[in-house]
Amino acid sequence: MAETTAPLFLRACRGERTEHTPVWIMRQAGRYLPEYRAIREQYDFLTTCRVPELACELTLQPVRRLGVDAAILFSDILIPVIAMGADVTFSPGPYLAQPIRTRAAVEALRVPDPTEAMPFVLDAVRAIRQELPPDVPLIGFAGAPLTMAAYLVEGGGSRNLARLKELLYHEPETADLLLDRCASTVARHLSEQIRAGAQAVMLFDTWAGLMSPVDIDRFVRPYARKVFDAIRQELGAPSAGVPFIYYAGDAAGWYDRCAETGATVIGLDWRSDLSQARRAIGPTVVLQGNLDPAVLFGPPSVIRERVSAVLASARPASDEHGPIGHVFNLGHGILPSTPPDHAKVLVDAVHERSARSC
Ligand code: CP3
Repeated sequence: MAETTAPLFLRACRGERTEHTPVWIMRQAGRYLPEYRAIREQYDFLTTCRVPELACELTLQPVRRLGVDAAILFSDILIPVIAMGADVTFSPGPYLAQPIRTRAAVEALRVPDPTEAMPFVLDAVRAIRQELPPDVPLIGFAGAPLTMAAYLVEGGGSRNLARLKELLYHEPETADLLLDRCASTVARHLSEQIRAGAQAVMLFDTWAGLMSPVDIDRFVRPYARKVFDAIRQELGAPSAGVPFIYYAGDAAGWYDRCAETGATVIGLDWRSDLSQARRAIGPTVVLQGNLDPAVLFGPPSVIRERVSAVLASARPASDEHGPIGHVFNLGHGILPSTPPDHAKVLVDAVHERSARSC
């Protein structure tokens, strides 16, 4: 496909100037939507991930309701963790009855073949691609190695990653083996998602912001980079036009290191200003974000005002006819008690307020 006829979201991710800024919403399929809750009354969460028809329907729900510029596969970052051999339940957050904390437990984890261990994800990708309008690309995703390791070692969410850090500092070789297996698992998983039809891929490093810069260099950046390098090596030229999005929570202290993962788009949370991030990261990567999800609890007038502020922070000061290098999103996932109408106000406001001549 010629670059100029590619969907708007993909053109913006490649750094081209587009007729408006694309917008999608992290966790856009989920509990804030009544149509999601209706399906969840009949099926548990893992079933919705494992039945391709259900994952397809849930992926499409926010596209229909909101008119977002991209869809994200309905799945979870714990699905590959289960395929590695961990026992995970959800209530609603992930929980491992037997966390992975010893060398023997790490060695027992597999690097699964995704076509055998997670075929339902690839079937869902193919089904979604069939159903989506051609101008709405599908984003595939996985958890970044550090964030997967955090769930494996902590056994669930954690405020300080104390157990994971204990392993990193006491047994760095075991930690390396664990992060390496996570990186290989995720690289294979994302390569297969691209082969099945995903047009962009995103690595979620939700927990990386709890690490110090020294440990970002030691345990976070090299393994995220390894995932992107391995996909490029596995797929070769066909991966060239596929945006690689890296999302890090609380990354204000290490923006420059985000870019060193080899990502082409960097997703940021709301704790910082996009112009500040741009100065640290440089002009070549595209930024994604970063409205505070809680702004959607405000009235429509405030939502529109704050949308304008984020758009302004993303606009390059120097060249008003140049590329914008911005994909609009929230700074983290949409919260379950968000009024769905307010999500629609957000999407419409981004489209209206970023409209420009090309
Ligand atoms: O539209 C989408 O984004 C849907 C696909 C998706 C889910 N999880 C579905 C889900 C994606 C991209 C994720 C990513 C994910 N999962 C992350 C990274 C993004 C982030 O929020 O930082 C993380 C850390 C997880 C782990 C996870 N899964 C948590 C913490 C929870 C429970 C709390 C919550 O925020 O909902 C889940 C369960 C989960 N994953 C639900 C959904 C729709 C809710 C399940 C339910 O109870 O209905």
